[in-house]
Amino acid sequence: MADEPLVLGIETSCDETGVGIVRGHTLLADAVASSVDEHARFGGVVPEVASRAHLEAMVPTIQRALKEAGVAASDLDGIAVTAGPGLAGALLVGVSAAKAYAYALGKPLYGVNHLASHICVDQLEHGPLPEPTMALLVSGGHSSLLLAPDITSDVRPLGSTIDDAAGEAFDKIARVLNLGFPGGPVIDRIAREGDPDAIAFPRGLTGPRDAPYDFSFSGLKTAVARWIEAKRAAGEEVPVADVSASFQEAVVDVLTRKAVRACKDEGVEHLMIGGGVAANSRLRAMAERRCEDAGITLRVPRPKLCTDNGAMVAALGAEMVARGRAASAWDLSADSSLPVTDPHVPAPAGHDHDDHVHDHGHVHDHDHVHELSRKNLYA
Ligand code: KG4
Ligand code: ZN
Repeated sequence: MADEPLVLGIETSCDETGVGIVRGHTLLADAVASSVDEHARFGGVVPEVASRAHLEAMVPTIQRALKEAGVAASDLDGIAVTAGPGLAGALLVGVSAAKAYAYALGKPLYGVNHLASHICVDQLEHGPLPEPTMALLVSGGHSSLLLAPDITSDVRPLGSTIDDAAGEAFDKIARVLNLGFPGGPVIDRIAREGDPDAIAFPRGLTGPRDAPYDFSFSGLKTAVARWIEAKRAAGEEVPVADVSASFQEAVVDVLTRKAVRACKDEGVEHLMIGGGVAANSRLRAMAERRCEDAGITLRVPRPKLCTDNGAMVAALGAEMVARGRAASAWDLSADSSLPVTDPHVPAPAGHDHDDHVHDHGHVHDHDHVHELSRKNLYA
C-alpha cells in the first residue's frame, strides 16, 4: 500500500554492508556487499578490514538498492541504521552515512538494534509479527532467547550464551577440521553425508540445575577438538562427515530444546528463529518437528534474510515509523554494546527532532553535521 512507510535501512555491524528498502512489510530492495572473502585467510572477521570495506561499499550499495527498488531518495519516509550492538568501527561507518543521508534529504533518522532487526525481518516474509513472539537468535556473534511482546518497544532477554555463540562454534570446529571460513554452511553441507548419532558429544547447560535458557558451546567445542586430536594422534582418519553431523546435532538439539521450553513456560505460541545459523538445514528441520509436537507455530525467514542484511534494519525502521516511535537525535552514536532491551535509540525526551530535520535554513548547523559525518567517514 502506498501509504505505508517507505524506509531505507543500513547495516554495517559486522562484515556485511547491507542496504535494504522496505515499504511497510514489503521488501523492495536488499543489496548486500560482503567483505567475508577478505577475512577468510584470518579465520575470522578483522574489525579494521571490515570498517574499510564498509567505507568503500557504502555509497555504491545505497545506489544499487535505490535502483533495485525503483524509488528516489526523496520519496523515503525515513532512514534506519544499526546503532548497535556490533563492531564499533564498522557501526560508525553506517551511522555516519545514515546521518549524512537523513540530514541532507531532510528525513528522520532511526538508530535501531541489530538483534531486534533480526526478529523484525520476518515481517517481510510472513507478515505482521504475532505479539508476543519468542525469538531464538543464533549468529556468529549471538545466541539469545528473546521474548518480544512488541518489537518496537518491548524486547526481554530470557537467556544467552555464556561463552561462544552458536555460529562461532561452527566456525571454530570447521577450522579444526580444515574446512575454511565461515564454517556453518560447509558443516551443514558435509553433515548431510554423516551420521548425527555416530559420536555422543555433550549438550552444554542441560542439567537440572543449569540455567534453563542460557547456552554454552565452549565445552562442546573442546570435546569435539579433543576427539579429533585423539583420532589424529592414533594415526586414524577423521570421519569428517560423522564429526560434522554429530557436532551439529549437539548444537541444534540444545537450541531447539531450550527455545521450545521457553515458549511453553511463557505460554507463547509463536517461535521465530533468526541470525546466520538459522540458515542451518538441520536446525530448521528439528525446530519444525519439535514445534509441531508442541503446538507452536514456527517462523523462519529464508536464509538470505537470516544472515546480516539491510532489509532487516529497514523492516524495523518501517515499524518504528508506522507506530509513531520517536526518531533518533542527530548526535546518535554507534554503541557496540547497545542493550538488547533497546529496540531503538530515540532522541531524549524534550528533544524536537522535527525542528532539526526541517531546519535547513540554519546553514551553519547543516554544514556542521556534514562536516562531522565526513570526519567520521574518512577518519
Ligand atoms: O548473522 P550472521 O550473518 O552474522 C553475525 O551477526 O554473526 O551469522 C554468521 C554466522 C557464521 O558463524 C556462520 O558460520 C553461521 O552464521 N552460519 C551457519 C550457516 N550459515 C551461516 N551456521 C550453521 N549452518 C549454516 N547453514
Ligand atoms: Zn547478525
